[in-house]
Amino acid sequence: SPSDPDLVERARKAKEKLGDKVFVLGHHYQRDEVIQFADVTGDSFKLARDAAARPEAEYIVFCGVHFMAESADILTSDDQKVVLPDLAAGCSMADMATAEQVAECWDVLTEAGIAEQVVPVSYMNSSADIKAFTGKHGGTICTSSNAKRALDWAFEQGEKVLFLPDQHLGRNTAVRDMGMSLEDCVLYNPHKPNGGLTADELRAAKMILWRGHCSVHGRFSLDSVNDVRERIPGVNVLVHPECKHEVVAAADHVGSTEYIIKALEAAPAGSKWAIGTELNLVRRLANRFAPEGKEIVFLDKTVCFCSTMNRIDLPHLVWTLESLAEGNLVNRIEVDKETEAFAKLALERMLALP
Ligand code: 13P
Ligand code: SF4
Repeated sequence: SPSDPDLVERARKAKEKLGDKVFVLGHHYQRDEVIQFADVTGDSFKLARDAAARPEAEYIVFCGVHFMAESADILTSDDQKVVLPDLAAGCSMADMATAEQVAECWDVLTEAGIAEQVVPVSYMNSSADIKAFTGKHGGTICTSSNAKRALDWAFEQGEKVLFLPDQHLGRNTAVRDMGMSLEDCVLYNPHKPNGGLTADELRAAKMILWRGHCSVHGRFSLDSVNDVRERIPGVNVLVHPECKHEVVAAADHVGSTEYIIKALEAAPAGSKWAIGTELNLVRRLANRFAPEGKEIVFLDKTVCFCSTMNRIDLPHLVWTLESLAEGNLVNRIEVDKETEAFAKLALERMLALP
């Protein structure tokens, strides 16, 4: 939808008044009306690095979701303030792994006698508490663009990986990129005693996958892929690795949001693409590449926007920028010192991956 010209003008003015004091980050899944004010756009990996590279900005306005703002706070200096324009912009996947559940899981692994062999690898899409757990137990963070490198590293440190919280990214990376079999993976269900697994099952596994998923990407199905192939002969199916294993196995290409953008930039005119990722990004790419004769469709019309990403809209951004311009620090995201120290360890291991 076109943005309200009055709000656009107010955002522009407030941002101009703030000048170099503010740096606005926009995740690829954000609305167009928000993305137009982003100083930089990217996937979660790129934005984590970009936030850390702006020490002169007093305010980092993070147009994305809560775990991304937490990561930015962890990676920036203490006097920089990270602001999330709507505090209700969470992530259902990140909420699927709580600190208590993960501590309990570690007890289960200890009981089974395997905790010393296990290296935790946590997806960026997790709370600061989970990142701190990961750092404390010698593990690393990964994103969808470096999951294979993170697993390569982890299997140099130990024999088994506990992958949190996205079972699909964990399984897809293990099977597609690491040559493991589905039998090498077990699913730990935090709502069942002992994760629903026996000690023998845990001892036999190489990958212990947390039972979490993305409520958006998890909705693409094998039918979505089969239907689009029937509808559009010659279509290239390109999906995000948060999709289910059967969807990823049926797709032609798999990759993070940055990968998807690069693949479409490199695609020849006349090529046809069905994309399985968040709708704001797919629409933007369809509009951007239509003039070059690239036909881009959304993989499954019954799948919707990420509702929490969409909570950041122009009215929230205007309110945030105007408040900051008037000297009112609103919606600050601040991770406590102890959590920050351990979470930073895990994030720095990620940033140091080869
Ligand atoms: P990336 O930006 O790392 O591709 O992650 C996708 C996602 O779901 C972010 O919430
Ligand atoms: Fe979370 Fe999925 Fe939304 Fe990303 S797209 S913020 S993983 S619910």
